[in-house]
Amino acid sequence: MPRSGLILGIESSCDETAAAVVERGARTVSSVVASQIATHARYGGVVPELASREHLRAIVPVVRAALAEAHLTLADLDAIAVTSGPGLAGALLVGITYAKALAFANHLPLIAVNHLEGHIHAVLLNDRETENAAGADAKGANRAALHDDAALALVVSGGHTHLYLARPAQGAWNYTLVGRTVDDAAGEAFDKVAKLLGLGYPGGPWIDALAKFGNPNAVPFSFAQIKTKAHLEGKPARTKAAKIAPIARLDPHFLFSFSGIKTAVLRYVELHGLRAEARARVSRVLTDFRQPQTREEALALCPQPTLDLIASFQHAVIGDLMKKTFAAAESLSARRILVTGGVAANRELRERFTREAAARGVRIAFPTLALSTDNAAMIAAAAWPRLLAEDFAPPELSADPSLALR
Ligand code: KG4
Ligand code: ZN
Repeated sequence: MPRSGLILGIESSCDETAAAVVERGARTVSSVVASQIATHARYGGVVPELASREHLRAIVPVVRAALAEAHLTLADLDAIAVTSGPGLAGALLVGITYAKALAFANHLPLIAVNHLEGHIHAVLLNDRETENAAGADAKGANRAALHDDAALALVVSGGHTHLYLARPAQGAWNYTLVGRTVDDAAGEAFDKVAKLLGLGYPGGPWIDALAKFGNPNAVPFSFAQIKTKAHLEGKPARTKAAKIAPIARLDPHFLFSFSGIKTAVLRYVELHGLRAEARARVSRVLTDFRQPQTREEALALCPQPTLDLIASFQHAVIGDLMKKTFAAAESLSARRILVTGGVAANRELRERFTREAAARGVRIAFPTLALSTDNAAMIAAAAWPRLLAEDFAPPELSADPSLALR
């Protein structure tokens, strides 16, 4: 039986080293995130070897800072939770090895958490914190509404664009994969387009900041219906994505593809004479290691046609995410949608999803901005039902870079 209900979460799956203490999956006591953006920015993307090295440097001070911020010691904890996948193998191993050592030395159970489940629990943690802040009266009334319903979850980040039906089951949750990208993740498309246009890394926040200065209808990007079933049926799965999940069995209406729009942006840049100015920005980033520091600086570097292109790209990607997410919710009779992961920080995404949900009478929830991108509070929150169920990791726990969520 948990004594304090306090779990230390550790997250190191990509380019953020994070540690947090969360009480009973419902209250963030501390949360520390050390970003590696400065290390990877000059390469325009995450370099796995550098990520592992940076995690090694940061893991001890970050965990110490999370405990110090919480005014706690390891002796106060009930368990240690760590992301075991999916993610970069070397990066994951740093967190797992350190978490194992801490758990062993302090006689604490170790809980393995799927990073994607963590993103879903970021929303649930947020719900519970809001509920707690609203006071005891609201608690009872809201509990059923907030926690006990099945929800359609869109996890949309730099590595994933996945739709799950999340169902509560005896205090825990189970997940059914409903849809996913067959190639790039949405966040990856934001990052690649930003890189191509010579904006900073990661690209999502730059595109988000600049899009409102352009005309979202200037470039009519479109997404073709994916016909994965036809071409995968009876054939060995060739793509990496197809190996990870049996895409052929998913409804093609809930599959995403974001690699085409990146090429369409590139073609547009070439055809409309935007190449030279994009190259100038790219060379500032890659040769001089200088990227825009403020929105004003980025704005001054982008002529109106580039801003129109950025706005149209974002509008199209969000339109596609919305269309498939709401169609899946309707088809599965889910009256509640959770949108989470780094791209869920996007302003246009939040506004349009919120408006559409209201029009359809569906409830929608997002994490706070800080909980949208990678953090460890979501890992500690997701571990709480596992602690109650005594679902502990074996001593031989290792990293699983392509861990599926079930
Ligand atoms: O969840 P996350 O921190 O890491 C992964 O698990 O991938 O997501 C990072 C991704 C990056 O691709 C980044 O460009 C994107 O989230 N992102 C955004 C925004 N903030 C972060 N994309 C669009 N708009 C944003 N405001
Ligand atoms: Zn993530």
